Amino acid sequence: MSRPVITIAELAEHVDQEVTIRGWVYNWRKKGKLRFIILRDGFGYLQCVVFRPEVDEPVWDTAVELTQESSVEVTGMVAADDRAPGGFELKVSGLEVVHIAPEFPIGKKDHGPDFLLNHRHLWLRSKRQHAIMRVRSELEFAIRDFFQSRDYTLIDSPILTPAACEGTSTLFETEYFGETAFLSQSGQLYLEPAAAALGKVYCFGPTFRAEKSKTRRHLTEFWMVEPEVAWLRFDGLLDLCEEFLSSIVARVLDRCADDLERLERDVSKLEPTTQRPYPRLDYEEAIAKLQELGSDIQFGEDLGGDDETALTELFDRPLLITRWPADIKAFYMQPDPEDPSRALAVDVLAPEGYGEIIGGSERSDSLEHLERQIAAHDLPRESFEWYLDIRRYGSFPHSGYGMGIERCVAWICGISHLREASPYPRLINRLNP
Ligand code: 4AD
Ligand code: MG
Repeated sequence: MSRPVITIAELAEHVDQEVTIRGWVYNWRKKGKLRFIILRDGFGYLQCVVFRPEVDEPVWDTAVELTQESSVEVTGMVAADDRAPGGFELKVSGLEVVHIAPEFPIGKKDHGPDFLLNHRHLWLRSKRQHAIMRVRSELEFAIRDFFQSRDYTLIDSPILTPAACEGTSTLFETEYFGETAFLSQSGQLYLEPAAAALGKVYCFGPTFRAEKSKTRRHLTEFWMVEPEVAWLRFDGLLDLCEEFLSSIVARVLDRCADDLERLERDVSKLEPTTQRPYPRLDYEEAIAKLQELGSDIQFGEDLGGDDETALTELFDRPLLITRWPADIKAFYMQPDPEDPSRALAVDVLAPEGYGEIIGGSERSDSLEHLERQIAAHDLPRESFEWYLDIRRYGSFPHSGYGMGIERCVAWICGISHLREASPYPRLINRLNP
């Protein structure tokens, strides 16, 4: 009779059957003639019980020599047990060692963030990191589903680019066969032309910013999802931001309940985000509100982290700040027809002080305006000629936004530093592993 090889997630279908599970020793303890092995296989955790009188001598000897993170194949009877974590236990009859691990560097004692990041390749095995990666994966799937089910076409934008999208101060340069290339800061400039070809498009991939300061909210490499929609005006863009966030957060709450519980995330703080509408503040109102709260911020300045926190504490769901001074925003934004010193730009701030998660705008559809902006921002005109063609051949109103995945994961998981939201974070002082 062949025994099925299953994962810990499949235990419920195999109660009272003999099965084999492959995994790693998460933990073990002994008690007289008993050995308890907590096995993890990537899908869950399972207590495996070895009872000396009931196993062959070699199985017992193997159980005794196991170490943390050794890889094993365990065979036994699946028993339903309400007291066991996860609701099941394995009564072991066979145990094969695949590899005995020497002492695992990550133990039970507290390690500092640098130590853990140096061992990121091993740290990923811990319960907390496991849960964060599950949430990230579900979030990315929810995002793709959101756009795919609404008839958007995925456009993969290039990583090696000739021009800056979000200012020249954070560009990564690389030598490109005698020319200079830059790592992409955003796929947006490539999506706008694609929106004219396909109507509704999005890209989802790695983006790069040479952020020269150490902050909890900045990575040098992060993943961004960016929709771009033809004929969409600013008001429609704000609605799209709300529809998007409420939908993806609801989906993660629904499908990652166990992971969020493991992270001890207070999900009641996320639930209001699944409800629309969201609060909206004109930039001018936001400044007035901040001054009222005692901030010394002046009209025309960008919001600092403390300002973002102070504002978001007033609401239970994301906050949209609209109509920013054009001078502090990117070159491509559409001026507000009522006051051209302002741009039709939106920043979406996550609740609980997690800060900006989305930046977006209506795009300028005027060739002359963009030509002036490119000059005013000191950008090399020749690198943007192709982009200007979109305003030469059937210019059209369009809007879009970008959301950094790590910012969204950090907020949903309730983690304070972006480094834990990425499987292999890249920071100003970190390129390894
Ligand atoms: O506001 P940003 O700079 O907007 C753009 O790049 C637009 N071109 C997007 C668009 O309209 N298509 O960046 C968008 C988002 C931010 O709100 C933030 O979530 C994330 O990208 N982000 C970062 N995440 C991690 N580390 C960094 N250094 C980030 N910089 C931006
Ligand atoms: Mg921004």
